[in-house]
Amino acid sequence: MIDTVWLDEEKDLLMYIDQTLLPNELRVCSCSDIFDLSAIIKRLAIRGAPAIGVGAAIGLYAAASRFEEESEQGFLYSFTKCAEYVTNARPTAVNLSWAANRMVKCANESLGHGVEHLKSALKAEALKIYNEDIETCKKIGIYGDTLIKDGAGILTHCNAGSLAAVRYGTALAPIYIAAEKGKRIHVYADETRPLLQGARLTVYELCESGIDVTLQCDNMAASLMASGRIDCIFVGADRVAKNGDAANKIGTSGVAIIAKHYGIPFYVCAPFSTIDFSCESGKDIIIEQRDGSEVSTLHYQKRMTHESAKIYNPAFDVTPSELITGIITERGIFKGDEIANQQ
Ligand code: MRU
Repeated sequence: MIDTVWLDEEKDLLMYIDQTLLPNELRVCSCSDIFDLSAIIKRLAIRGAPAIGVGAAIGLYAAASRFEEESEQGFLYSFTKCAEYVTNARPTAVNLSWAANRMVKCANESLGHGVEHLKSALKAEALKIYNEDIETCKKIGIYGDTLIKDGAGILTHCNAGSLAAVRYGTALAPIYIAAEKGKRIHVYADETRPLLQGARLTVYELCESGIDVTLQCDNMAASLMASGRIDCIFVGADRVAKNGDAANKIGTSGVAIIAKHYGIPFYVCAPFSTIDFSCESGKDIIIEQRDGSEVSTLHYQKRMTHESAKIYNPAFDVTPSELITGIITERGIFKGDEIANQQ
């Protein structure tokens, strides 16, 4: 398993793998500037809901460790502005605002002992968020593994693995735990148009981990399910509403609809930091719209559609709670209508 984001504690730098370069290049980069941090998240160099949250927390600390403000109030003002700025980088993954708010809360609660103390408190909080992610995802994996039988065929969409979190990932965590236990499993990865997170990232990390994986185009999912190869489906989430509706990478809801038709269990794996209790239902989730060039040009040698084509490019869709067999969290597996009681 790969660590995707981490803190260089000597140099106070956010370290991250630039995911836009995978699978062809594994490049480790660093960041300590708030404008760079926002740009890195926007262009998906750090992506995946938990990784965005942890990356934002560490990046905010790295930036704050360089603040020259001498007064606590000046420091707090600048830090709060930075947190607001980074929160706006992407709208759908709630882990981003969740982590930024935690860092701001920590700064507020640490006032009264000077700026150096504030910096130390923020460092400790960023490391806590990082370590919690590893533990949380491992627990998701342990609960999810109970649903995997030896010899299972498992379908996943997008990348909700190591690269999308700090280490275990969410949707791939049960797969890593099952593999650690010696279960024979075969993963089918949707390529995930238009940005190919499945083809580029899920296949990369599973191959690197020695887990059996087959890649198929998104429009082959129905054929695959009809063939009887798929026993269960695990996907991640960017925001889960109070009623159990779950936003995840575009195409996820289609997979859930097909799974319902074929009677295949469809599980969403998400830490509690991805549940937004202020969102009553999926209708309240803001869906990020991204540039049309991702559809027309990015992964093609030449533009592949007419130059005046209008392009629809929502980055996420919402799977209704009733299509989700269970939401696997670090606290157990819940039905959508049980989520509201967990607040
Ligand atoms: O646009 P991305 O690549 O950040 O979208 C990622 C996903 O949709 C993941 O499935 C989700 O963030 C969960 S990651 C554990």
